[in-house]
Amino acid sequence: MRVWAIANQKGGVGKTTTSLALGRAMVARGLRVLLVDLDPHASMTRAFGVPSEPQPPGVVDLFGAPPPTLASLLRPSPTEGLDFVCAQTALATLERRSATQPGLGLALSQAITRHDGGHDAILLDCPPTLGLLMVNALAAADRLIVPTQCEPLALYGLAGMVRTGEMVERSRQRPLPTSIIPTMYDRRTRIGRDTLAQLQVEYDGRIWSEAVPVDTQLSNADALAQQVFSGDPPGRALAAYARALDWLMDEDRALEAAA
Ligand SMILES: Nc1ncnc2c1ncn2[C@@H]1O[C@H](COP(=O)(O)OP(=O)(O)OP(=O)(O)O)[C@@H](O)[C@H]1O
Ligand SMILES: [Mg+2]
Repeated sequence: MRVWAIANQKGGVGKTTTSLALGRAMVARGLRVLLVDLDPHASMTRAFGVPSEPQPPGVVDLFGAPPPTLASLLRPSPTEGLDFVCAQTALATLERRSATQPGLGLALSQAITRHDGGHDAILLDCPPTLGLLMVNALAAADRLIVPTQCEPLALYGLAGMVRTGEMVERSRQRPLPTSIIPTMYDRRTRIGRDTLAQLQVEYDGRIWSEAVPVDTQLSNADALAQQVFSGDPPGRALAAYARALDWLMDEDRALEAAA
């Protein structure tokens, strides 16, 4: 079972979109996928049509004692083979508890290790903050996927996230390969083209050779959910995500072969 964390300390770079789009592309290939919403803002949970009040069962319950199984928290989505675990707004209070409760950083990875729900992949949609929830995701992940916008301001967030991944890798002494996916690329703008070219040079070997284009079909949560859950042929951004998935799978295979 693959566990991929989709993370960036910067907000609005396409983490949730990337999680949903990669999940869809995996299911289209016959894989069974579990998406986990780790963001207290619960964008992904809302995209699945689950209201935030009353709070649904979800990720926060994994931090209780004794924790429930992941299997007892998951919900089926409208797409066969795609299940999800909700985020709750109560996740926002977790960071405060973490100061007094040691060991909370491994709650998610312990739940995933025990999980036997027949999934081929678990995708973790992270919040845009380096806190307990992102730490949980990075501890559980065997690949870090960093979506980044192709604009100069996004480069700082990307550099910070890559450094965080390297720190986690050193402290846990288990590889955490990083894969960067440029998102919302507008090839008509000079700044977009220049930034993408700079990214490709700076992160050579860790970045996808293409970019997910700006696509109005993904420009808001409703449009995104419509694209992801409908059986319609994928638009240009979702088609790009399917190619990004090919690259990520190739990267996984290369790692396995090297090991
Ligand atoms: N390729 C795309 N083309 C056009 N709009 C996009 C594209 N990808 C994402 N968006 C839009 O950009 C916005 C931010 O995307 P998303 O919510 O996936 O980012 P995020 O990193 O998860 O944000 P947050 O940090 O708030 O969790 C959303 O409104 C989404 O619909
Ligand atoms: Mg998000």
